[in-house]
Amino acid sequence: MLTTYRTAIATLVTCIALTAPGGRIDAQPATTPLWSGRFDTAPDKALLAWGSSFSFDRRMFEDDVTGSLAWAEALTRAGVLNTAESTAIRDGLTAILERGRTDPAFLTGSDEDVHSFVERVLIERIGEPGRRLHTGRSRNDQVGVDLRLYVRRRIPEVQRSLLAVIDALVGQAAAAGDAVMPSYTHVRRAQPILVSHYWLAHAQALRRDVQRLDAVRAEADALPLGSGAIAGTNYAVDVHFLAQRLGFSRVVANSIDATSDRDYASSFLHASSLAMVHLSRLAEDVVLFTGEEFGFFGLSDAVATGSSLMPQKKNPDPMELVRGKTGRTIGHLTALLTTMKGLPSGYNKDLQEDKESLFDAEDTVMGSAGAAATVVRTLTLDRARTERAASGFLLATDVADYLVSKGVPFRTAHEAVGGMVRDLLRQQRTFEDLSAAEWRSFHPQFGADVMRVVTAQSSVRAKRTPQSTRPDAVQAQLTELRLWLEGQRANRTM
Ligand code: ARG
Repeated sequence: MLTTYRTAIATLVTCIALTAPGGRIDAQPATTPLWSGRFDTAPDKALLAWGSSFSFDRRMFEDDVTGSLAWAEALTRAGVLNTAESTAIRDGLTAILERGRTDPAFLTGSDEDVHSFVERVLIERIGEPGRRLHTGRSRNDQVGVDLRLYVRRRIPEVQRSLLAVIDALVGQAAAAGDAVMPSYTHVRRAQPILVSHYWLAHAQALRRDVQRLDAVRAEADALPLGSGAIAGTNYAVDVHFLAQRLGFSRVVANSIDATSDRDYASSFLHASSLAMVHLSRLAEDVVLFTGEEFGFFGLSDAVATGSSLMPQKKNPDPMELVRGKTGRTIGHLTALLTTMKGLPSGYNKDLQEDKESLFDAEDTVMGSAGAAATVVRTLTLDRARTERAASGFLLATDVADYLVSKGVPFRTAHEAVGGMVRDLLRQQRTFEDLSAAEWRSFHPQFGADVMRVVTAQSSVRAKRTPQSTRPDAVQAQLTELRLWLEGQRANRTM
């Protein structure tokens, strides 16, 4: 029975080793875990490998070493380490950081996690002083500080990728000039809009995502070190010094809460999911609007794919993939919330599941944003086609508003124009086909000027509110968004 169980686990481990992204489980003998003292026998190798997070949490290597450098300094200030030990640890960790940065192959081994790896190689390098580094600290507060540092370090990169999409959308908006297109509600033609107004709508949603990530960064901005395993630490480490040293603006309030708090990780997954939802909606539009049925925009050959069978096909694969990948990010959010919901207070190993979700969401958003930016940047506008699509019955509201301007109550005007549309549809004609006399036959208030008023261009110009598709309002929106974008670029390159 036991053998069968072990074989099953070993097979599972092999599968994980083969399939995990960047995953690697070495054939070399298992490294002694940090906690081996209490046990009579060595741990089951396959189980230990199955529970190891090193294949993925090595992404936090630099954060782990940074946190340890600061912790060693705090221990020194608290009188736990003497100067010689402190110097040895600092030099050892600095060399390890350098090696890890320049040689990715260095980050391998059968260690339980990145924290164990760093401690092992430090002790191998400097001996005895390395065995003092973990004084007063637990992997429970260490993993918290690592992940918070990681999230704070990576969010600006994710934001940069979203800013590239916004930049491409703003570029399309500027290039569209006064071109008009239909807007849609229920996927039925609604009212004429400026093409630029349409592109800016997507840009505004993505701007909120950039801002939301600022909030996630602020949420992750609290130092958990000093929480120990759960109850705090027995050494007088100056946590405020540590916070300042690691760039945190505050210290957590409660060690029990801090060692199992992953709110910032779920907020990151929520912000990533929403960004993916926005990219997915953009992708869906681009797939539709570049297809034969709409034909509003043209896809560059460089971003399209063909069919192995149908010679005529030009497919928008990158945007379909953006749409398709959205599900996995939403899945990661659901997975983490589900992991969290039943946890007893304090650290539980389940929490290790936070990282793969978070890392994959980060990769997914950045990859998708990169693809969307390239596709949007290279789209061409078929202005004749969007203009043709923006004429006809989608001017019906403007016809009703014309009657309102002549003193007719809106509800009466709505009914009259509804009746007109019904008649014209039956006759297979549209507003443009009517003579002045025919207009009057529908309502006595229709004057000869009605056809001048009822065009897509005058429809957009007739709008009055700042958020509308009125050309000067859209121009102001474009200018404001460009200024914001410039500010973001200046901030984030620092
Ligand atoms: N790999 C672990 C994680 O990601 C690190 C913390 C381990 N703590 C422990 N008590 N086993 O959560």
